[in-house]
Amino acid sequence: MLKEKIAALNAQLEAEVATVQNKEQLAAFWQAYLGKKGAYSLLMSELRNVSAEDRPMAGKVINEAKKWAEAQYQDLSDKIAQIELAAQNAREAVDITMPSTRRPAGRLHPITIVKDQMVDVFAGMGFEIYEGPEIEDDYHNFTSLNVPKNHPARDMQDTFYVADEILLRTHTSPGQIRVMEGKQPPIKVLVPGRVFRSDSDATHSPMFHQMEGLVVDKGITLCDLQGMLDKFVQAIFSGDVKTRLRPSFFPFTEPSVEVDVSCFECGGKGCPLCKGTGWIEVLGAGVVHRHVLENCGVDPDVYSGFAFGIGIERITMLKYGINNMGYLFENDVRFLKQFKD
Ligand code: PHE
Repeated sequence: MLKEKIAALNAQLEAEVATVQNKEQLAAFWQAYLGKKGAYSLLMSELRNVSAEDRPMAGKVINEAKKWAEAQYQDLSDKIAQIELAAQNAREAVDITMPSTRRPAGRLHPITIVKDQMVDVFAGMGFEIYEGPEIEDDYHNFTSLNVPKNHPARDMQDTFYVADEILLRTHTSPGQIRVMEGKQPPIKVLVPGRVFRSDSDATHSPMFHQMEGLVVDKGITLCDLQGMLDKFVQAIFSGDVKTRLRPSFFPFTEPSVEVDVSCFECGGKGCPLCKGTGWIEVLGAGVVHRHVLENCGVDPDVYSGFAFGIGIERITMLKYGINNMGYLFENDVRFLKQFKD
């Protein structure tokens, strides 16, 4: 009787094992067979119907059946754990061959690109970098540069005044003064930075960038200037351009020159870019005026030097064929993303 009952129960359990697919069904399975009121637990109550002498034997059989059922449950439980893990792995699988979402990468601003290139060229010639203050005093921006008070040359640059005698530097030339005040020649410095003038149209912005160069030593001449500037324009524009010096005027240089580069667009034959002249004006320069050297405690009878001031926006516009300076300040990403360093 008991044996048959157990055999039937075992068969029922085995049949049900095949139907269990998940944790919930596994829990129900355990309740049905091995819980307090589970079929195998209830078998013990059958002992009542067994004679006293058969009882130990019957108890053993029931216990074995229960152990067997527990082993079945354990196997099933391991199987379900594996199935669930496999399902979880499938759910969380990452297809590493899928293309990723591209995040736009930032780039250097064209002004920064050109400034860095210029620094590279001059650093290769042994120049050091000096950065002066953007808020200057009248003395460093004008007076020490041989532009006395009420001198008409002050009108060449429309100045933003911050206070009496304090202004936003109108050029990087005060950097020359600050360097020479701080040390004796030999001097070979580059002063890149922002400058400010009350001026605004397609080719002027109230804030723009310059790069000052200053070389002071014994026996420095305009030939040294031109040799260095030839190397500079060749590095920035193209290998076969050259420079030309034209007389000009700056209060702080004597003689003063405007420097032209031979047109890199037409090779000097004449085109719209160079307005048919074959030459493009790129910067101002000259031999440092002896008054300027004197103002800084450098003996003009022992030392001489040259200085140049390059407009970084101008070089950038020429190099990339940009026809409106506004593009350099609007920061429109469609414009900026065209530049690679
Ligand atoms: N400081 C001058 C300007 O801003 C440029 C310059 C610099 C000219 C050095 C000569 C020498 O126009």
